[in-house]
Amino acid sequence: MQIARTSALEEMASGIAHELNQPIGAITTFAQAAQRMLTQPEPMVSNAIGVLQHISDEAMNAGHGIRHIRSLFNGRDVTRAACDLADVVMELRPVLDLLAARAGAQLQVSVQTPLPRVTIDRLRIQHVLFTLVQNALEAPQRDHEAPIVQIQLSGDRYGVLTAVVDRGMGVPPEARDQLFRPFFTTKRHGTGLGLASSRAIVEAHEGTIGFEDAAGGGARFWFRLPAAEGVSTQ
Ligand SMILES: Nc1ncnc2c1ncn2[C@@H]1O[C@H](COP(=O)(O)OP(=O)(O)OP(=O)(O)O)[C@@H](O)[C@H]1O
Ligand SMILES: [Mg+2]
Repeated sequence: MQIARTSALEEMASGIAHELNQPIGAITTFAQAAQRMLTQPEPMVSNAIGVLQHISDEAMNAGHGIRHIRSLFNGRDVTRAACDLADVVMELRPVLDLLAARAGAQLQVSVQTPLPRVTIDRLRIQHVLFTLVQNALEAPQRDHEAPIVQIQLSGDRYGVLTAVVDRGMGVPPEARDQLFRPFFTTKRHGTGLGLASSRAIVEAHEGTIGFEDAAGGGARFWFRLPAAEGVSTQ
């Protein structure tokens, strides 16, 4: 029990670190920018107001992150229900669009119907999707092009495949074996917990997760979830 408790605490602490790392970094940067704008001989008030709006968005994001972590550790919310993965993606879409807009990126979603239903813990699967999209948006770009990220849903009678495809530089050879290890990161302010926690979640759903080089460069991260037993739209 002691070990279980300690590892639950560690998981919670690393989850919080993961969720808060980005918004806090962004808030710091924006706050410094606002300070510079307002301490100029001719204060740039209207620009500063825009930056303050970003700070407020980031703080909201952080609040969302904390609620999310709390819900993962709140037994009542850990329930699985049969649902359509396309709905789960659409529910998260506003958050993903916000992330994409911040990266100056385009987010495209394609759904190949019909999809079988899947029995999932909605919040956890949304965490996986969020992580993959966030990584795709952060992937270093070739020629500093504006990133385009695609979410592709497809299915057969056995399950649903979700792929997140970017057009970045791809995964470097020396990193390939380590991506899913906790704390492996190539980012200056990364926690290296995004993919590790995603793998744990997908495997707890009897699913599989992986990646490959995307056609035409970039990376294609995917996860596959089994179809709900006895329930199918096909
Ligand atoms: N789409 C991608 N293209 C290229 N490399 C990627 C991509 N997604 C993940 N990686 C590599 O996998 C590493 C681990 O990703 P993970 O999400 O676990 O942590 P992180 O993104 O580094 O940190 P955090 O998620 O806390 O910001 C990244 O640092 C990066 O090197
Ligand atoms: Mg990440």
